[in-house]
Amino acid sequence: MTKPLRKAVLPVAGLGTRFLPATKAMAKEMLPVVDKPLIQYAVEEARAAGVQQFCLVTGRGKTAIVEHFDIAYELEATLRARHKEAELRMLRESQLPPGSIVTVRQQEPMGLGHAIWCARAFVGDDPFAILLPDDLVLSETPCLQQLAEAYYQTGGCVVAVTEVPHEHTNRYGILDIGKDDGRLVEVKGLVEKPKPEDAPSDLSIIGRYVMVPEVMQYLGMLERGAGGEVQLTDAMAKLIGQVPFHGLRYEGRRFDCGDKIGFLEAQIAFALKRPEMAGAVRAFLKTYV
Ligand code: UTP
Repeated sequence: MTKPLRKAVLPVAGLGTRFLPATKAMAKEMLPVVDKPLIQYAVEEARAAGVQQFCLVTGRGKTAIVEHFDIAYELEATLRARHKEAELRMLRESQLPPGSIVTVRQQEPMGLGHAIWCARAFVGDDPFAILLPDDLVLSETPCLQQLAEAYYQTGGCVVAVTEVPHEHTNRYGILDIGKDDGRLVEVKGLVEKPKPEDAPSDLSIIGRYVMVPEVMQYLGMLERGAGGEVQLTDAMAKLIGQVPFHGLRYEGRRFDCGDKIGFLEAQIAFALKRPEMAGAVRAFLKTYV
């Protein structure tokens, strides 16, 4: 029996150096795409997949991220007095039910693996999702929901994967693959940021995972990997052979919003999906191209 997926860990303690100076005093995860912060997209995606409990792994200067999910009493009262119904609805959509969000502090940004390990008490013995909020996916079915559906079929670990250009394998966690039905691939190995000549495939992991709690015991060894950081990929690799482990070629388009170009592209793609602004965006784009 696969346990239901009800928990998600969202690491938000990174320094966001690729986005300086915007991220000097503000968290990268609060950057908006059109009108919604990245963190809210991630939380909505997780809720659509059945997640009910959230753990944000935070660091210094990140409190606004947690406050974003609170009730904003003064703002609500003002909007109500002014009969701004649409805005009120929007505010309510960004609230999480009481008790459904906790935070843990990473203190020192020692890498993604270390950030996830900081959530070990929250995870306990349950399977959990990991969402990296700076990876944004535009899709018909929310990306984590696609992963959750695969998880309920296979159990174990399921990671979202996509083909990357061969010369870019050194930027990503890359899969060594076994059986492949075109959508779901069996994972035989994982390598963090291999040189193109050493890469076992061009299939890279993006920031969506369904993990088994056992990953915590490997993360707890705090072994330093690529870049001197505690790598999630290295701990996940140790689970291969112990639990089912699959990559899912999800339907959708992913934008790396931790990168300036990816972020700009996401603005355009998400704006073009909004009926009330698509026409205007298309019109102004023509004047630049
Ligand atoms: P990134 O690789 O994007 O690093 O982290 P970063 O520090 O956020 O950004 P740059 O590269 O300096 O611009 C991927 C995810 O892992 C989290 C980040 O917050 C992001 O969600 N992370 C990374 C942590 O929570 N702690 C860390 O020590 C490292």
